[in-house]
Amino acid sequence: MDFQNNAFYFIMTYGCQMNQADSEHYAGQLEELGYRMTDEIDMADVILINTCCVRETAEGKVLGKIGELKHLKERNKNLILAVTGCMAQEWRDRLFERAPHLDLVIGTHNIHKLVELIKARQKTAKQYLAADMAVPAFHELPARRFQRFFAWVPIMNGCNKFCTYCIVPYVRGREVSRPLADILKEVRALAAEGYKEITLLGQNVNSYGLDLQDGTGFSSLIRALDGIDGIERIRYMTSHPKDMTFAMIDALVASKKVVSHMHLPIQSGSDELLKKMNRGYTVAHYGELVAYARKKIPDLALTTDLIVGFPGETEAMFSETLDLLKQIRYDMAYTFIYSPRTGTPAAKMGGQISQEEKNRRLQRLMDVQNVFSLEYNRAMETRIYDVIVEGPTKNDAKHWFGRTSSNKMVIWEEDGSVAVGDTVPVCIDKGQTWVLKGHLVK
Ligand code: SAH
Ligand code: SF4
Ligand code: F3S
Repeated sequence: MDFQNNAFYFIMTYGCQMNQADSEHYAGQLEELGYRMTDEIDMADVILINTCCVRETAEGKVLGKIGELKHLKERNKNLILAVTGCMAQEWRDRLFERAPHLDLVIGTHNIHKLVELIKARQKTAKQYLAADMAVPAFHELPARRFQRFFAWVPIMNGCNKFCTYCIVPYVRGREVSRPLADILKEVRALAAEGYKEITLLGQNVNSYGLDLQDGTGFSSLIRALDGIDGIERIRYMTSHPKDMTFAMIDALVASKKVVSHMHLPIQSGSDELLKKMNRGYTVAHYGELVAYARKKIPDLALTTDLIVGFPGETEAMFSETLDLLKQIRYDMAYTFIYSPRTGTPAAKMGGQISQEEKNRRLQRLMDVQNVFSLEYNRAMETRIYDVIVEGPTKNDAKHWFGRTSSNKMVIWEEDGSVAVGDTVPVCIDKGQTWVLKGHLVK
C-alpha cells in the first residue's frame, strides 16, 4: 500500500443520501491510500466535491464552490481537486472547460476509480476523467462511515421511472439491484461493529430486486434483514407510489425493526399533472395506499415531496395540491420549485411558469403544510419517545439531539449522562414546526 505521510482529504457532499453513501466510499478508498480526514479545507491534499444536479440551484452552488477553491490550487500545485457525483456525470469534460483548475472528474459509476486516478495524477499532472456508465453500478468498496451508530446501506442504484422533470435516470443510469447476499453481509458486519440503525437507500426502493429475477424483492429483503440481531431500526428511502404494494406495507408492518416513518413522494395533487410528470399513479390510488398504511401502522409518520410550478400547472391544479395537503395531512413535506433540466422532456414543454409565480405558490404550499407539521409536533408534547442520540447540535454543544422512530428531530439540554448512539427516553416539552424540544427522562 502506498502510504501518504500526514496527507489529508476533505470531502464536501451535496444532494441526497445516495451521495452521502458514495462519499463514505470515496473516503474509504482515500483512507486505504493512507490519507486522513480533516475538517480544515486549507490543510487538505485532496479535496473532493461530491455533487448533485437535480435542480439548477444545486448546480449553481457547486460551480460557486469550485470557483472559490481556485486560490488553494494556485497556492499548492500538488493539491488534487476532484469533482464527483451526478453533476460530474452530467457535465463530464465540460467541467474542465468551465474550471481548468480541476484535476479529476469522476461520474456515478466510477467511484472505484478514485485510487487509480489519484496515483495517475501524482505521476503526471494532467486532467483525468472517468465517466463511463457502461460499467457495473456497484463495487463493493471500503466505507469510512461518518457516523458511528447510523449507516447508509445502498440496495440499488439508478432509476427506470423517467419522470419527465427529473435528471436522475440520466446521471445514475438504469436500476441495478445489489445482490441480497452482499446487503446481508454488510448489515451483519454493521451490527457486529455496534451500528444500531440502517437506512436502505435507492431512488425507488420498492422496485428492489426486479432486475435480479430470482424472486428477491423489497418484501423479502425486509424479512431477511429483520433477523439480524443488534440492528434496532431499519429506515428506507425512497418509496414510489407506483411500485409500493399493499403486500410490501404488510411486510413493513410485520417487521419488528422497520420504523414508523414512511416517505412517499406524491409531487402533485392533480391527476392531469401527475400524468404529464409520468408518475404512473392517480391521486385516488395514492390515497388508498395511505389509508391502508395508516390503518396498519397507527403511529405512522408520513412525509412527502412536492413540486410547484411544473409546466402547465394552472391555479386550479395547484389548488388541487393544496386540497390534497389538507386531506392527507402529512407530518412534513419537502417542497421544491420546478427547475427545468436540460435533456428532460418537461424542460421543452409549453406553459413554463414564471419564477415569481413559482415563488408565490411555494409560499402558499408551505403556509398550508406548516400548520399540520406544527399540529403533529404539538400533539407529541408531554409524551415520552425513545430517541437514538446523534450528538451535540451544530451551534450549541450544551444541546444534544437525536431522532424518534418517526424520524423527528428532538433537542434536549445535555447533562453528560448520555453518549452518542444510546437509546434514551425523552419527554417532549414543546413541539415546533421543524423540531421538538424535550428533556431526558431519568
Ligand atoms: N427517487 C426519489 C427522489 C428523487 S429526487 C423519488 O422519486 O421520490 C428528490 C425530489 O426532488 C423529487 O421527489 C422531486 O420532488 C424533486 N425534483 C426532482 N427533479 C426536480 C426538478 N427538475 N425540479 C424540482 N424538483 C425536482
Ligand atoms: Fe427522478 Fe422519478 Fe426516478 Fe424519482 S422516480 S429519481 S423523481 S425519475
Ligand atoms: Fe442529486 Fe444525484 Fe441524488 S442528482 S438528488 S445527488 S441522485
